[in-house]
Amino acid sequence: AEGMAKFPPAMKGAQGLLHGGDYNPDQWIEMKDTIWKKDMEMAKKAGINTLSVGIFSWSMLEPEEGVYRFEWLDEVMDMLHENGIRAVLATPSGARPAWMARKYPEVLRVNAQRQKELFGDRHNHCASSPVYREKVQKINTLLAERYKDHPALAMWHISNEYGGDCHCENCQKRFRAFLKDRYGDIETLNRSWWNSFWSHRYTCFEEIESPSPIGESSSQGLKLAWRRFCSWQTVDFYLHEIEPLKRITPDVPCTTNLMSTYPVINYFDLGKVLDVSSWDNYPQWQGTMEDVHVAENTAFKHDLMRGVCGRKPFLMMESSPSSVNWHEINKLRRPGTVTLQSLQAIAHGSDSVQYFQFRKGRGQSEKFHGAVIDHEGSEHTRVFKEVAQIGKRLRDLGCIAGTAPENKVAVVYDWENRWALDESEFGIREKNYERTVRQHHPALRRAGYGVDVIDQTIDLSPYKVVSAPMSYMLRGDFAQRVRQFVEDGGTFVMTYVSGYVDGEDMTFLGGFPDPLRDVAGVWAEEVDVLYPGESNKFVYDGRSYHVHEWAELIHADADTKVLATYESDFYAGMPAVTRHPFGKGVCLYVAARTSENFLKMFYEKVCAKSGLAPIVEQLPYGVGATERIGDAGERYTFLLSYLPVIEKVTLTGRYQDVETGEEVTGEIVLEPRQVRVLRKME
Ligand code: GLA
Ligand code: ZN
Repeated sequence: AEGMAKFPPAMKGAQGLLHGGDYNPDQWIEMKDTIWKKDMEMAKKAGINTLSVGIFSWSMLEPEEGVYRFEWLDEVMDMLHENGIRAVLATPSGARPAWMARKYPEVLRVNAQRQKELFGDRHNHCASSPVYREKVQKINTLLAERYKDHPALAMWHISNEYGGDCHCENCQKRFRAFLKDRYGDIETLNRSWWNSFWSHRYTCFEEIESPSPIGESSSQGLKLAWRRFCSWQTVDFYLHEIEPLKRITPDVPCTTNLMSTYPVINYFDLGKVLDVSSWDNYPQWQGTMEDVHVAENTAFKHDLMRGVCGRKPFLMMESSPSSVNWHEINKLRRPGTVTLQSLQAIAHGSDSVQYFQFRKGRGQSEKFHGAVIDHEGSEHTRVFKEVAQIGKRLRDLGCIAGTAPENKVAVVYDWENRWALDESEFGIREKNYERTVRQHHPALRRAGYGVDVIDQTIDLSPYKVVSAPMSYMLRGDFAQRVRQFVEDGGTFVMTYVSGYVDGEDMTFLGGFPDPLRDVAGVWAEEVDVLYPGESNKFVYDGRSYHVHEWAELIHADADTKVLATYESDFYAGMPAVTRHPFGKGVCLYVAARTSENFLKMFYEKVCAKSGLAPIVEQLPYGVGATERIGDAGERYTFLLSYLPVIEKVTLTGRYQDVETGEEVTGEIVLEPRQVRVLRKME
């Protein structure tokens, strides 16, 4: 089957799907004659066509200030090219050399307690430090100049897993500048943060300090602004890092490896400046029925990580081919789970399967972290054999590269809303926003639909159904665009705790969900919370469903259809689920936290009513279905069994198995953890 790519290769000069991972040849420099040579032989045997180098190499590239040693990297780049391997070249800012920390203490972070940190670990630079910024740009410039014409150079891997915050004086200054820029004058800031509360009115920006356990720890305006600043600061640092790269190598795409729902960085903001989204995927497969949940969480993360960079393919930059080293209990990957993990990424729109790590080192904390090549060094290990098998399958699936899901259903996961909910004080302290979205997402997927994950800033027009659970904060023009979306015929699903505050975390005054009250056709007067073990119930479509934790007391407008009412407590008889026609569309409101059973059944109905057809009907529990679409509209359907047992799926229409060429129709059998890739035939 000849597929046609809709999108250009994620890496410069790449063909087909990518297979590779983090490679640290600099750790083996004293044994390079044997080890590097062996690495290339093993890469060939495993079908590896890309390797990421230089991620933590600063002390090898610049062993002393201003003394550069690129010769070893020249040799590595040449070797990769000679072996047909695309190089993902990293900027080394993820870990700085000790000499820099000693000579320029300002590059070290100050923690929230205002203690200066010492040299150590990694991922701990101060992003405001002028010295660090200068050093980073210098080395990035040298790397770009040296390798700009190197035929192996396929992509820039910017730093590594950006994260954390710093409270040093340089950061305080930048924070104040950020606030000045956002609010203009101190009175606007005071008003926006409701600062008459607890005598919090500032007279000038210089009085503002970042949150601290020894200082301000309760001002919600300040805390939200600090989170915004830390996220903005990361995006700013990324832009600073790529400046020389974009100038010297404009045709080489840049990415940085993300960490799914990592709370500190609004990845939708960072995603807007990435050429390609990439992320590090570390699910804990068990080889049991538990894997259904592991797979659903991972599916959510893939859809989110794809979503931050638009509707195009992404990369799975890291994943472990066996156990990791950082869990409490580092269980081996059960046979077949690495294949499932790899093909699941492809199914959700990744154009790569990359591992951490290619070869296990001899020393330090990651020497027992899973790797493609073990200490023993041969191709006869269980893990290597499975990786080589994956390499073969990726080659056979090459036509998938550059195709992408074109989902009509989206779930909203919004970082700023999460921050506001995390800081908020009402109801139950732990709001579990992420967990809630992670429950709505699989409910839609179990109903048979491919799902995008978007935030409040993303265009709604590609979608027919959008669900935005717990949208406590409605920021920017989101409410306005939702209104338009429903007016134009879209189906919008809302839940309890929505439309309480605006983008500054100030409550609305017109009755929740205020700016969407007429769209939803309800007024949420109060919200009750239930103690652990307590529950309420409602009947929907003749079946009774449990309510726990959150139960909002809502009133329905005259033209709102009440689909379910609470069964007990003083609000028995009040609406629990409603449906309101608005314009050409409809808004559904689920006023309580409910079970997964309810959500699946509910979304099945909602989607069917909106005229959407699922990828596969009657999808059995534990089977996933996704679709990637090519340039000429060709459809690739992925069927993924997350199960340790055999399961059957019934297809409507004719398909061809992309790997075997065999024609497939009707009932098909999925072996445990089997993934099949089918091309729809007209
Ligand atoms: C992260 C890092 C890698 C490595 C792995 C180990 O994802 O980016 O450098 O430490 O964890 O699982
Ligand atoms: Zn700092």
